[in-house]
Amino acid sequence: MWKVAVIEGDGIGPEVISATVNVINAINDIYKLPIELEFLEAGLGAYKKYGTNLPKQSMDKLFDSDCALKGPTTSLEGFGTELGVPVKIRKMFNLYANIRPFKPLPRSSSLAKLDVLIVRENTEGSYSGLEYRVSDQVAFGIRITTRSAAEKIFKVAFSMAEKRKKKVTLAHKANVLKATDGLYKEVFLNEARRHPEVLAEDAHVDALAHWLILKPEFYDVIVTENLYGDIISDEAAALVGGLGLAASANLGDKYAMFEPVHGSAPDIAGKGISNPVAAMLSFKMMLEWMGYPEVAWALESAINQTLTEGEKLTPDMGGSGKTEDIEKKVISNLQKNLHNIG
Ligand code: NAD
Ligand code: IPM
Ligand code: MN
Repeated sequence: MWKVAVIEGDGIGPEVISATVNVINAINDIYKLPIELEFLEAGLGAYKKYGTNLPKQSMDKLFDSDCALKGPTTSLEGFGTELGVPVKIRKMFNLYANIRPFKPLPRSSSLAKLDVLIVRENTEGSYSGLEYRVSDQVAFGIRITTRSAAEKIFKVAFSMAEKRKKKVTLAHKANVLKATDGLYKEVFLNEARRHPEVLAEDAHVDALAHWLILKPEFYDVIVTENLYGDIISDEAAALVGGLGLAASANLGDKYAMFEPVHGSAPDIAGKGISNPVAAMLSFKMMLEWMGYPEVAWALESAINQTLTEGEKLTPDMGGSGKTEDIEKKVISNLQKNLHNIG
């Protein structure tokens, strides 16, 4: 039995996760998968109730699970506030590879012919949490780059490129950050030598951000450190129709967490109009990770069909539908497809 920890999150989190959980229940009914969901509190609600965004009983449930499905959680700003929930969990389980695929979906307002996989280092860089306010006038932060984390992330990037279009681009800024990004580039070139069949290139991240819009077809796998990966992910999401469609997996050697790329979207929270596709496609990535590629394919097909039919899509896709409308359509397409096969 797979034990899946579910974090509904806050803002639009409960909406997109509830829609996804209903889809998971429908899939369990149809395919009889051994998946059991265990809900836990994390995020703004937990912070208000317990004074921390990830209380001990929630951590215990995470440690007791095989993987997690996570809705977005609001991160507090202000010096001295705790790390955000996703950053904590990535560090807790050493989920070093953040895998973010981007390709246009049916009816997405896609600007570009983009089909890229962003492989983001997920445990260090500027996300070390080591920041200091020296005085009223000065603050500094420590960015950590280790050879071992760099080696791990480049291995993942090259092995994924081998199954795709066999090209990896390192996005860096070694022209300025000579120690940290310099180490990245050195390790990248070493890994590239072990994969002569993969074309390895590197680019300054600012220039890459520009070329990603003008020549998206130039890229296949983009590998990069934590903060650059965060920023170019949202850019890539915009190119394929918006954050409501972008899914991700945080992978470690033993544990994994799946979550949409987007955040808690306070501007639309509570209206029931958030797009649940990113959360559903994150569950699809979980199914692949668990070893159920046919079920993952069935879910992806039901989502694509729903978007192609285009009835009652959410406002981010130009419609006037609700989160629930997408959920109902995806479930009925899953059932219809099974009926057609049977
Ligand atoms: P955001 O991703 O929440 O929102 C950016 C824009 O995209 C907003 O206009 C929003 O309405 C839109 N959007 C996002 N998801 C959508 C969806 N599913 N359907 C339709 N539109 C959608 O980014 P933000 O405003 O910078 O962040 C809000 C909060 O979320 C912050 O506290 C941030 O730290 C947090 N956050 C959490 C996660 C996470 O838990 N994994 C990820 C990103 C941001
Ligand atoms: C993401 C988010 C997180 C990050 C925030 C919420 C801490 O933006 O998963 O992309 O910066 O990693
Ligand atoms: Mn982000």
